[in-house]
Amino acid sequence: MNLPAKVKLVDVGPRDGLQNEKQMVPAEVKVGLVHRLQEAGLKEIEVTSFVSPKWVPQMGDNAQVMAGLERRPGVRYSVLTPNMKGLEAALAAPKEQWPHEIVVFGAASEAFSQKNINCSIAESIERFAPVVQAARAAGIYVRGAMSCTVGCPYEGDIAPERVGYLAGLMKGIGVQHIGVADTIGVGTPGKVQRAVEAALQHYDLNDVSGHFHDTYGQALANTLVCLQMGIWQFDTSVAGLGGCPYAKGATGNVATEDVVYLLHGMGIETGIDLDKLIDAGQFISDHLGRKPNSRAATALLNKRAG
Ligand code: HMG
Ligand code: MG
Repeated sequence: MNLPAKVKLVDVGPRDGLQNEKQMVPAEVKVGLVHRLQEAGLKEIEVTSFVSPKWVPQMGDNAQVMAGLERRPGVRYSVLTPNMKGLEAALAAPKEQWPHEIVVFGAASEAFSQKNINCSIAESIERFAPVVQAARAAGIYVRGAMSCTVGCPYEGDIAPERVGYLAGLMKGIGVQHIGVADTIGVGTPGKVQRAVEAALQHYDLNDVSGHFHDTYGQALANTLVCLQMGIWQFDTSVAGLGGCPYAKGATGNVATEDVVYLLHGMGIETGIDLDKLIDAGQFISDHLGRKPNSRAATALLNKRAG
């Protein structure tokens, strides 16, 4: 198997994870989580989103969280910005608090685009274009997320052509990297492979990542098939936190701990200290009053307890 020697994981727990929590998590706990993730060796962390607080109140403390970070050299911090208002809010802070990367997020499914960001796919691209242009002019890297690349909670199966279409539109407006998301975790390896292949029609292998929710327990298998394709970047979520408020019933992203266990077991470098990562997962799980949603973390915590 021709597998990558190194993999970069972007922990999206503070954003994708905590956006979906019923209870409001205080900004200082979010900051504490980011600090523990960087302590564990994560080199990229998706911290928050600059979206409407009426739509997603859990992210309403975005500026406070960004301002509270003690940044580590070599760590990149990213945020979601769906429109100019979001980008302007992210850049209203002093420059040292700016994100290194922003994420514009669209969907391969029309219905999901409407539910999630209140506009059609075509309108979303019109909204994103000036955001991408302004971010790049400010020296900020732009990622694009494509939701519902294999299945949609409203439309069912999504054909790979729809993914290719959206990836092409994202490329056309200057989005530098594209994430192939299985928002509701329904994908299985063949389907995910076809969605990733569609993205690869427009993006280089080095500019495509996987973002797999684990609702049906398929995310590790989907990660493995991507590794076999040469994909080396994945979004994962510490303690398996997460979901999307506009994808009811979908669970969190694949747990970072489980992916690190898989990768290290295969001899693939991540730069992440699994023990410290488990501590980060335990920290946020304690705060939320539940156990980490990670098989590897559970097994290793049981082992620690003897
Ligand atoms: P809209 O209502 O169409 O926007 O929302 P609008 O421009 O008509 O503005 C309406 C109101 O929202 C106005 O306020 C604006 O100021 C305000 P009002 O005058 O009524 O008081 N507003 C904003 N406030 C703060 N920040 C902003 C902003 N924009 C407008 N950026 C919008 C459009 C996209 C803003 C809205 O639909 C929204 O916030 N949606 C939330 C989407 C979201 O966060 N979803 C979850 C993240 S995506 C995800 O989880 C998927 C991913 O993980 C990949 C995967 O797994 O699939 C990435
Ligand atoms: Mg997601």
